[in-house]
Amino acid sequence: MKNIFKFLKQERDKRSFFLEDKIVDYIFSSSTEIDRVQKSLIDETANLGWVSRMQISPDQGNLLTMLVKALRPNFAVEVGTFTGYSALSIAKGLPANAKLLCCDVSETWTDIAKRHWKQAGVEGKIDLILAPALETLEKIPEEQQIDFAFIDADKGNYINYYEAILNRLSESGLIVVDNVLWSGRVVDDSINDEDTIAIRNFNQHVKNDERVLCAMLSIGDGISVIQKKS
Ligand SMILES: C[S@@+](CC[C@H](N)C(=O)[O-])C[C@H]1O[C@@H](n2cnc3c(N)ncnc32)[C@H](O)[C@@H]1O
Repeated sequence: MKNIFKFLKQERDKRSFFLEDKIVDYIFSSSTEIDRVQKSLIDETANLGWVSRMQISPDQGNLLTMLVKALRPNFAVEVGTFTGYSALSIAKGLPANAKLLCCDVSETWTDIAKRHWKQAGVEGKIDLILAPALETLEKIPEEQQIDFAFIDADKGNYINYYEAILNRLSESGLIVVDNVLWSGRVVDDSINDEDTIAIRNFNQHVKNDERVLCAMLSIGDGISVIQKKS
C-alpha cells in the first residue's frame, strides 16, 4: 500500500500540474486503488525513462473505465496506445463481446502493452494495428459506428483524428481527448512550439464546431469529453 502511494505520488509529480500537492494526495488516497496488473504496467513503463510521461495517470484510467462501463460501447477506438495503460483501462470497462481497435506505430512499446493485456485477461477484446493511425481510421468500414474513442497520439494530427472519428461517431458516443491543457502551455503566450500550437488549434476547432458538445476537464494533463449534439 505504501509503495503504491509512493508511486502514485511520482505519477502526481508529472501530472495535474495545477493542483497543490495536498489536494493531489487527497484525490489519489480517496480514489479506487489500481490493481496488480496496472501497477506492474506503470512500473515497467517507468523503467523506459522520460517517455513514461506519455502514459495517462491512474485517475484518468479509472475515469476511462467508468465512462466506458456506463456507455456500453460495441466498438471503441484508441489513437495512441504506447505501453497500453489507457487501452487496458478502456478494455476493463468494455462489455464481453465488444472490441477496442488500438492504433500505434511502435512494436516495442505495444509489446509491453500486449503482455499486460494478456495478464489482465482483456487481450481478446483488443485489436492492435501497427500503422499510421490516420490510415487505420480510414480503413474502418463506413457502416461501422464508433461508440467510444480516445485520442492520445501525435498532436499535429489531433484535428484529423477527431474528424475521422466524428464522421462515424454514434449518437450517444463519446470522444475523449488527452493533453488538452498541455501542462498549462496552452495559456502561455510566450510558448509557440508546434505541439502547443496544434493543441490550441484543436481546442479552438472543437469549440467552434456546432456539431458537438465539449466538456474540458482538468484531470491529468486535461481531457476534453466530446459528444454529438442531439
Ligand atoms: C502519448 S502516447 C500514448 C499513451 C497511451 N495512451 C497510454 O496511456 O499509455 C502516444 C503514442 O502515439 C503513438 N503515435 C505517434 N504518432 C502516431 C501515428 N501517426 N499513428 C499512430 N500512433 C502514433 C506513439 O507511438 C505513442 O505510443
